[in-house]
Amino acid sequence: MRSRTLACVLAATLAAWSAADPATAAKSDSCAHCHGTDGNSSSGSFPSLAGQTKDYLVTQIKAFKTGARKNAMMSPSVGVLSDQDVVDVAEYFASQTMTRGSFKPDPALVTKGKQIAEETQCAACHQAGLKGLGEFPRIARQKYPYIVKQLKDYREGVRVNEVMGPLAKTLTDEQIEALAHYIAGL
Ligand code: HEC
Ligand code: HEC
Repeated sequence: MRSRTLACVLAATLAAWSAADPATAAKSDSCAHCHGTDGNSSSGSFPSLAGQTKDYLVTQIKAFKTGARKNAMMSPSVGVLSDQDVVDVAEYFASQTMTRGSFKPDPALVTKGKQIAEETQCAACHQAGLKGLGEFPRIARQKYPYIVKQLKDYREGVRVNEVMGPLAKTLTDEQIEALAHYIAGL
């Protein structure tokens, strides 16, 4: 049943896409393998792309293409995309809705994480409800393991950004985990 439902969803999505552009449909299918057909990934190591801002998605896909951002699983996937494909794929995922996953946040850590988020003013850039806008990514409801990894990557300089790098350097592992419980549970 499950695989049949998935097949139907995939077929419907591909039909909707191929009406517009068959090449783009095929490319989103290759992303779906890890990020989910509708951009809601099923594994914590793969970020959900559904409902992410278009500008941010374009920037990140381009960063993987140039090697400014590196990941062994992700980097090989984007080489084939033309500039137009990047925009089309970003528009598609931005138009989807990020669903609540199976993550069960720890209430005590949520309280602690919310407090740190308020003190650090994450919402000044990531917007009310941390829903993102333009170049500022949506982080609300993102996968817990992915959020923890990104904050540590910024802190250790594995992922480079002039804003998030210095900010992450002020955070301990415990603070990162509390923040991620709060953010993933939104
Ligand atoms: C083999 C699995 C895999 C495939 C296929 C894949 N990705 Fe990814 N993607 C990842 C992983 C893993 C990450 C997180 C990398 C990290 O930890 O920095 C990622 C990250 C991303 C991000 C950054 C998200 C964020 O919140 O910063 C974007 C955008 C993205 N992928 C788009 C795509 C697109 C578009 C395709 C299809 C052309 C694609 N991916 C195919 C595994 C994959
Ligand atoms: C001054 C603006 C600013 C503030 C304040 C800020 N961020 Fe960010 N954040 C950004 C920008 C810009 C990016 C995208 C950076 C990039 O391209 O790598 C980002 C990226 C992220 C990412 C990676 C998202 C993804 O999908 O990969 C996470 C997680 C994150 N921020 C968490 C936080 C948390 C938690 C706080 C508060 C403790 C915070 N940010 C405060 C601007 C900000």
